[in-house]
Amino acid sequence: MKKILKINNIIKSFNKKIYVGGDKSLSIRWVLMASLSKKKSVAYNLLKSEDVLSAIDCIKKLGSKVKFTKQKCEIIGNGLDCDIAKSLLFNAGNSGTVGRLILGLLINSKKKFKLIGDQSLSKRDFSRVMAPLKKFGAKFQSKKNKLPLKMTGLAQPRSIKYFEKRGSAQCKSTVMFAALKAQGITDIKAKKSRSHTEIMFKHLKIPIKVKKTKNFDYIKLKGIKKINNLNYKIPGDISSCSFFIVLTILANKSKILVRNINVNDTRIGIIHILKKMGASVKIINKKIYKGEKVGDILVKSSSNLKAINCPTYYNSAAIDEFLVIFLVAAKSKGISYFKGLSELNKKESPRLVWGSKILSYMGVKNILTKDSIKIYGNPNLSLKKEINIQNFLKDHRVFMMSVIAALTFGGKWNINDLDSVNTSFPDFLKILKKIEL
Ligand code: S3P
Repeated sequence: MKKILKINNIIKSFNKKIYVGGDKSLSIRWVLMASLSKKKSVAYNLLKSEDVLSAIDCIKKLGSKVKFTKQKCEIIGNGLDCDIAKSLLFNAGNSGTVGRLILGLLINSKKKFKLIGDQSLSKRDFSRVMAPLKKFGAKFQSKKNKLPLKMTGLAQPRSIKYFEKRGSAQCKSTVMFAALKAQGITDIKAKKSRSHTEIMFKHLKIPIKVKKTKNFDYIKLKGIKKINNLNYKIPGDISSCSFFIVLTILANKSKILVRNINVNDTRIGIIHILKKMGASVKIINKKIYKGEKVGDILVKSSSNLKAINCPTYYNSAAIDEFLVIFLVAAKSKGISYFKGLSELNKKESPRLVWGSKILSYMGVKNILTKDSIKIYGNPNLSLKKEINIQNFLKDHRVFMMSVIAALTFGGKWNINDLDSVNTSFPDFLKILKKIEL
């Protein structure tokens, strides 16, 4: 059944303190890491979303024992061996991160297995991880490098040299998981992308060296035989937080404090971009937790927003937040320009195209190319018309962006598909209701 959210009113002023769910990238990585240790790992605030449940489903098939209650998640893994006992079928659901990283983890599977995903994931490219995994010695069967695919690994993968040039943390991390199981040292040169895997590996005392230069990270990683358990309190997700950051900026006379968010430098592109646009947003109470930066985010409604010619060096650190950033551009004075964003069209749905489509529905002039968008902002933008969002690929971020647009610009919105929030942020609507009260 299609679930449509109808919004006819803009949000009233608010002043709130909130928490959002655990970080999705950290949650998925914790699940995968825990599956590699034979000792019990415990996580608090693990995100209970469909993507994370897909990761859990995959590691259960590798023999991990999982107990996920309201308070915590406990995993007793199966070690680094990869004797697929229970099933040769892995389902990554909607998650590119699970689909790609699990292939790295399965590099030492001597048995052939099959990886499937939902309609959206089955449209996405897997050659980006198949290419390096072939260098480790894996063999693949697939149509046009898409899911469903079959892979056979090998008992003793050989270490590789790998150049990651997209700025994709999924590609880098897939190779890093495979490298754990390879003989010798894997050498990675990677364009900057989120650094959670490196930080977790370091924290677990896995032999890894990271040298950072302005544009690239150089990683040397040695294969291991054993891994320690990892207890973790997952901090909040900046990507989930971003919807409330933009809601507050665009609302009238409002203020929000979002507590305990992961503010790793490779994730806070949105904060830098919005600050440059004149928004009142800052990180306070910063601390370090297990190598990750964590802090609270304080945001106030902001008038006098100005357009940005967004530098491409922010792209990777804001990749999941561009849709809501486009809404701020729609309300800014001047023409904003976002470029070098072809990767955005390779997400759960073609998001650059969707961003342009929604802005056009809102009557915001924009010029779209294959990898860029120019947005003609209007500080007085206010909508009265009816807007229907048919979110065919059920992209969670398209849904949440539309909700924020409806609550801040007005109009009569019918937004499909309400259930999509379960992918990354099941409490999205619950937190919104709390703010509206
Ligand atoms: C993710 C990396 C990003 C991001 C995705 C999660 C991760 O993808 O878009 O939502 O957890 O590694 P790419 O690394 O492919 O850009």
